Amino acid sequence: MNNSKTSAIRLSLSHRALNLSAPGTSSMRSKANALKEKGIKVINFAAGELSFDACQEMKAGAIQAIEGARNRYTPPIGLPQLREKLAQQVSQRCGVSYAADEVAVTAGAKQALYNAAMVLLNPGDEVIVATPYWETFPTQILLAGGIPVLVDTRADDYRLTCKAVERALTPRTKMIVINTPNNPTGTVYQREQLLGIAQLAFDHQLWVVFDECYRKLVREPHEHHNIVSLFPALKQQTILVDSFSKSQAVTGWRIGYACAPAHVIAAMHNLQGHTTSNPSSLSQYAALNTLTADSPDFARKVNTFLDQQLVAACTCLGYVDGITCAPPEGAFYLFVDVSRHLGRYYLGTKIRDVDHLADLLLTEAHIAVVPGSGCGDPNSIRISYAVERAELIEGLTRFGQFMSEVVAD
Ligand SMILES: Cc1ncc(COP(=O)(O)O)c(C=O)c1O
Repeated sequence: MNNSKTSAIRLSLSHRALNLSAPGTSSMRSKANALKEKGIKVINFAAGELSFDACQEMKAGAIQAIEGARNRYTPPIGLPQLREKLAQQVSQRCGVSYAADEVAVTAGAKQALYNAAMVLLNPGDEVIVATPYWETFPTQILLAGGIPVLVDTRADDYRLTCKAVERALTPRTKMIVINTPNNPTGTVYQREQLLGIAQLAFDHQLWVVFDECYRKLVREPHEHHNIVSLFPALKQQTILVDSFSKSQAVTGWRIGYACAPAHVIAAMHNLQGHTTSNPSSLSQYAALNTLTADSPDFARKVNTFLDQQLVAACTCLGYVDGITCAPPEGAFYLFVDVSRHLGRYYLGTKIRDVDHLADLLLTEAHIAVVPGSGCGDPNSIRISYAVERAELIEGLTRFGQFMSEVVAD
């Protein structure tokens, strides 16, 4: 091989990096920001966060930590007192006992999920993931060398059914990912559905990654259920994943946690010790302060806001022809089927696919949405209704106006 070819290979990115692309939400954010810099008012429905200031207890805890000079490293897997407090609270809400050594404090739920994939999967292990999915699930599985086995839930109200899981099982299946309330569909799994999946996972000795980041954000009369609480014997093979990001409006603070058997947490400790070390000490003290105060006020305020937003959003979408949207039961996303508009024309331009539609919505209507292609559903777009009220109304009005101008030819 000649020298230039050899050095081109030596200096290339890894296969891992070459196969990796930015999350749909961040690429949409960059495009939206580029327009904003030109002075265009863009309404961002693509962000996965509340339009609220952080919860008061988080802020007070962080300020105390700064003033108390809590500036040093903490143990990589989190402050002992925070792990203890989390263990107590998870035990209480699940009715199943967790000890501090069964808790890992992480830089958001994302790190908890990545840790889980990295410490549990070997190359070629299969992981069952419901489609539509939050893009990071399959990406992290691939990064860990696993194989995401995508199970289409669109005909089953966006829920994994036992039958579908059974069909997807192979001798290489190692794990199932369940996310409830769900991003992007807003689905909340019902008790019986979770019980059925729990029994299957138990019988087949599969790991269950149970992402309940949006557990506090549920629309009545729906109710969040925790799989370990429903099926306590599953504790030994479950990774519970939760976060302060969404429920306390602190997405930027990077603080979440995982609960799992102690040997899994010990492996996460080793991994985290060589990667990021501890999550921000300030965020950890803030979380501790919030858990100690244990005030339901913030969640109540957020849910009241989201209830009202959802009513307003559904009213606006009711005027848009040719779309369908299952009423969301939790989280804060509308997952809107726009398939009837794909392949049609907007001011003479053929809308090739959902990515093209999302680009046109941004450049022409100045609204940023997440194209469902990144979630495994090329027929839909995700719209967050957790934005400010005036923006919600204006943005959805622009959406309706744009869609009304889409014609057959
Ligand atoms: C289902 C789900 N899990 C995990 C996360 C990550 O949250 P965090 O900010 O805690 O890393 C998100 C963020 O959007 C999410 O939607």
